[in-house]
Formats: sequence, structure tokens, C-alpha cells
Amino acid sequence: MRFLGILLIVLASLGPLPALSTPSPKRAAAGDVAPKVAALMARMTLAEKIGQLNFASLAFPYELQLEEVRQGRIGNMLNVVNPDHLRQFKEAVQQSRLRIPMLYGIDAVYAFRVAFPVPIAWAATWKPELAELAARMVALEAAQDGINLTFAPMVDISRDPRWGRVIEGAGEDPLLASAFAAARVRGYRAGGLATAAKHFVGYGAPEGGRDYNGAQIPTAELFDRYIPPFEAAIAAGTETVMASFNTVNGVPVTANRWLVTDVLKTRLGFDGLVMSDFVAIPELMNHGVAADLAQASRKALHAGIDLDMAGRAYDRHLDALVKDRSLPMTEIDAAVRRVLTVKYRMGLFADSPLPREVPPAPSDARVREAARAVARESFVLVKNNGATLPITPQSGTVALIGAAALSTNDHSWYGPARLEKPKTETLKAALEARLGSGQRLLFAEGFADPCGVSFKDKAAAVETARAADLVVLVLSEDCTVSGEGTSRAHLGLSGVQQQMLDALVAAGKPIALVVETGRPLALTDAHAKAAALMIAWQPGTEGRTALAEVLTGEFAPSGKLPMTFPRSIGQVPISYSDLPTSRPSTADRYTTGYIDEASTPLYPFGHGLSYTTFAYSGLAVSAPGMGRAGAIEIRVDVQNTGLRAGQEVVQLYTRQLVAARSRPVRELKGFQKIALAPGERKTVRFTLKAADLAYHDDAGKAVIEPSPFRVFVGGSSSADLEGGFQISDEQTLTSE
Ligand code: BGC
Repeated sequence: MRFLGILLIVLASLGPLPALSTPSPKRAAAGDVAPKVAALMARMTLAEKIGQLNFASLAFPYELQLEEVRQGRIGNMLNVVNPDHLRQFKEAVQQSRLRIPMLYGIDAVYAFRVAFPVPIAWAATWKPELAELAARMVALEAAQDGINLTFAPMVDISRDPRWGRVIEGAGEDPLLASAFAAARVRGYRAGGLATAAKHFVGYGAPEGGRDYNGAQIPTAELFDRYIPPFEAAIAAGTETVMASFNTVNGVPVTANRWLVTDVLKTRLGFDGLVMSDFVAIPELMNHGVAADLAQASRKALHAGIDLDMAGRAYDRHLDALVKDRSLPMTEIDAAVRRVLTVKYRMGLFADSPLPREVPPAPSDARVREAARAVARESFVLVKNNGATLPITPQSGTVALIGAAALSTNDHSWYGPARLEKPKTETLKAALEARLGSGQRLLFAEGFADPCGVSFKDKAAAVETARAADLVVLVLSEDCTVSGEGTSRAHLGLSGVQQQMLDALVAAGKPIALVVETGRPLALTDAHAKAAALMIAWQPGTEGRTALAEVLTGEFAPSGKLPMTFPRSIGQVPISYSDLPTSRPSTADRYTTGYIDEASTPLYPFGHGLSYTTFAYSGLAVSAPGMGRAGAIEIRVDVQNTGLRAGQEVVQLYTRQLVAARSRPVRELKGFQKIALAPGERKTVRFTLKAADLAYHDDAGKAVIEPSPFRVFVGGSSSADLEGGFQISDEQTLTSE
């Protein structure tokens, strides 16, 4: 059986794209490996056990670390990407007394060699199979060199675009994020890596969007919003979970026994291992919950943190803590058992029930093709007045403006130094190759750098615009400000990009604006001035080629926003799924406004246009109601009413009208991406179980209440086709 998954991967790598779902590798059950783990632990010294809890980060010169591996004091390494270094660590393991294989972990998130678009762009496809494909390809590349664990997927929900790490996740919605969490876990695992779902939990809700800040999350919300993607990752087989750096309700997760042991391990039934984040155990002193490293170590282990990532805390202190009886040996044993269980289940030992097999490397062309397929479906066309896009021969002369159009930056974090960086086509070259003969493409850099920090001959850019019929302006979010530790207090265009936009508007030609960004920006002014606006995210190695394909209409855009775009920073956080307020009583969405700002966001969650239009009709609910164990079917007809083929993401939202707690004005409960030829009509069906409508009370208990519900179906969270049903205790209403 174990070869089946590999065989399917090989076959899939020969088939046409997108080659989607592949079964994840089989893993032995925890119970099956328990006797082996117990036998090994019986042979281990305390020092060797503590070594298994030590996840050391490569530090140069690394000879000392090699020696510690030989002594059994380091049981796992992160950030070893050079195959020569990896080989030396593997040799050192063979020279150790028990030869226990190590975890080799890196952040192979969306790029190893070829860069895929960033993960928020994966979510913008609303096609989890594409995320699975991307994750599998990244993992396949990384696994060839001996890496066996990726610190991904990040499954943190965030409603605050000021937080830079929204780039690594799937946005604001628990249902969408859960679908992508599961798909990413399946993909990385099918590519030969174990996964780390991170950062458990609430890391995406730091106060003010400031990275590492504490989060205040009521228990009900924790279970309704932040925990579901972790449950999805666990169900999909993640072997490890990484704890969050920050405090949740005042207690750092790294020292939070309720969250790590009671909730994650006991209630959610997670039987893999939990690692700290980078140096998070020593940082318990910064949080002010530990006086010294010994206390930090004791608190973290007691909380349920099995692996100490880069902290050298367990390594230095667990031995003494056991010997002076401040720490029961059972807690060390429990952590070691989890680490060894994961290693056995991953197949790392020679006598593992299912030995690990690294699937063969895909061809370079295959990975690039996958990267392009993901990019194509990730772009979100948020505005398109008068069919400004796509660029056709009727568009006339096109002026491409912006140094970003010359950029070959694929935005990958790093690649293995020994491998040549793959070539990234510029948008300018990709567009030149695609415009019809006879159609002129003019070009002006406009900026001295791709992120528009300063001008380079602004006057020439304006002249170029004047000479054209259509201006395509490419702007990038400041290149330094996405990712970890890059929260923003301003969400406008960076550098002098706004001034360039204003100057080009004065030239009087329609502007199609392309924005490369890692997060939602406040683009209210740009929206008003541009005739068309495309969110291109950070599109990766094949991204600019895919962008040219979509701008010229070879492929129609089909992305939808996985996060709300605010009008202004003052609106943040704003989400389609806020709770209703008492005033105004009639409004049903975005009820709380400001006197100096509209109550609605610039672009709602789920918004995105195509080059065609879609009409929704015939919403039908299969029964007027259902019991608490029941299900109903919701049906809607969707028709392509334009002249071009396109894909639409059909979205289903509900609202519970009466409940013990206020319920969100809308909640996403289903989505399907469908392709429609011009004029074509399809009936889309959703099954909605009463259990899908459960929510959590203050104690974190799931409840399904009798209540009337509204249901909304459409192409965004503003969907206005509306129906209703009841959940009732009356069995006569059910369709069970
Ligand atoms: C990040 C993690 C990452 C780790 C290792 C930390 O700073 O928060 O997400 O996996 O570093 O690179």
C-alpha cells in the first residue's frame, strides 16, 4: 500500500495540469509504533532523552553541533539546507550510540527553488486543489535534499491587514482557511515532508496588528474562529504543531497548559508533537512569566511544548530540574514519547512499520507549469469599468509604466545556495510576447526601483502615457514590508507611487492598475482614479508570465478576495462576518461606521470580477427546516451572461437570526468554483448540515440551536439572493 501514493504522484506528474488531489502517504497509527517507542526509551539515558527535545538551529561553525549530535545531545536540526551539511549531520547520527534519526526542518512554505505565489494568493484562487498542488511541488523540491519537515502551513486567521504575516495564511475566514489548511497539509505530505501547522493559536490576532503582540480572544471566539483551521490540519494528518510566540488572554502560549495540553492535545486529540517557535522558550523571560531560563524550561515543558526550537533551554536545564525534583520525569518521558512516535510514524527509522520514501523529483518544467497555473487563478480583478481589461487589439497603443515591470524578484525567502535561481520573466517581456503584431507597447520605468521609492524621469512616464490609448501601471507594495515582523501603520501606496498615479491620471488616459502586494491595502483613491484594478499579490517565478496571460485575456481572472480590503486604515479591522449591533437596527451588514467614513469596506470578502458576467437565479432550499441532526440542500442556477468563458466562485452564506449569543451578520458556509462557457447555465448544489451551523458558547461547548436562519448565495459576501430555513426540535420539519 505504501507505494500506491508514490505511484500516483509519479503518474500525476505525467498528466495534464492541474494534477490535483493525490493521497497523502500512509502513516502508521500511534498505537502501532508504541511498542517500538517504549523499547527504545527503555534504552535511553536522561541526556539522550533531553537531546530528543532539542531542535537546534544551524550555527556556524557547526563542528560543535556535529559533536553534540554524536553525543545524543542534539536530536533535531533546523535550517540545514546545504546537502553537504545535511550529509555530515546524518553521518554524525550514525556515530551516535542509539542512531536515532533527526528531524530536518526548514520554512519550505511557498518556495524552495521555484517560487510559487505567496500563500494568501493560493487562498485567492478559492481552489484548494491548487494549494495542494503548490504545496506538493514545493515539498518535492525540498525533500530531494534530505529535508523531512516544513514549518508550514501557517493557518492563522487574521482580520487585520496591518499584520505582515497575512501573506503566509489564507485570510480572515475560518471555513475558507480550514479548506486551505487541509489542502496544504495534504500537499506537503504528498511531496514527502512532514508538516507543522502554526502558530497555535491566536498569533494572527495581535492587538493593533503589531506582530508578536498579545491577543485577547474570548473562548467562544477562539473555538469559532481560530481553532477550526488547526482541526482541519490535524484531520489532514499534520505530524507537528508549532506554538505561537504571543500571549493569549495574558498567558504566552509557550507556557499555556490549558491551550497546549488541555485544548490541543486532549480536546482536539492531537497525538503528534508540539514545538515551540524560534527561541520562544527563553523569550518567556521577555514576557515576564519566567525569572530565568530554568523556570522558562519547566513552564514550557509542563504546558506541553515537546520540542525546544533554537532555545537551548531544555538542553541546559531539564537535567537539573529532574534531579532536584522540580520536574517529574513523566513529563520528559511524555514529550520524548511524542517526538519518537512522530519519527516512527514518519518512517525515519530503519525498523519503522512504513519506511519513508521520498517521491521522485518533478521536472523543472513541471514545477514551473504548476506555479503558473496557481498564479493565473490567484489574480483578483476588483474593478473593470467599460471592459478596460483585457488588453485587445481594440485597446490601441498600450503604455506600460513602472519599474516593477522590469522586476525579476520572485519574492522567495531563500533557495538552496548550490542551485541556480530559476529565471523569472519580466512583465514587460511577457506582455511584449503576447501583444498582437502591429499593436504598440510603449514603456517607461517611472521609478528608480521596483517598489517606487523614488522617481526616475517622471516626465517621461507622463509623456509615454499621453502617447498611448491605455496605460497599464504596475505598482508594488514596498518590497521590505511583508512577512514576519513587518506590521504596517499605513496601508496606502508606498513611496512616490501615489504621486505617479496622480500625474498619469492628469495625462487623461484610462489606467489599468496592477498592484503586487502581500496584504490588503487601502486603495480608495487608486480605485477612484483607475479604470481597472487587478490585485496580483506576490506572484512568484512564473507570476509575471501568468499576469501577462490574464491581462491579455488568454485566461480570464477568477480570483476572489480572501480578506476584506478596507477603505482606510481607521476601518481596520473590518470583516463581512462582524456581529450585528443594536444601532442602526435595520442595517444587516457593516453596521458600525464612522462619521467621516463609509460603513462598507472598499472591497468585501469574496469579491472578484471576471471578463464576463454571471447571473444568479432560482435559489431553492430543499426543506423549510431540519432537526439538529438533519441536513438540507441549497440549489442555485448560475449563468454566464457575457461573451467570454469564465470561472465563478459560487458562495453560500448563512445568518442565524435568534441565538443565545449574537451571531455574525453572515458566515461563509460553502463555496464552489465552476467554469461556464458564454451563455452556459449550471445548477450548483450545497448540502448544509445542522452541525455546520453549530457555534460555541462561553465555555467553548458547541451548540446547535433551534432558530430561523437566512441564507445568501452569490459571487461575494455581498450576495443578495436570499432564502430561509429553520433549525427546529420538531422532527416533522427535518429532511433527515
Ligand atoms: C517564525 C516561524 C518559523 C520559525 C523558523 C519564526 O520566527 O515565527 O513561523 O517557522 O521562525 O524559521
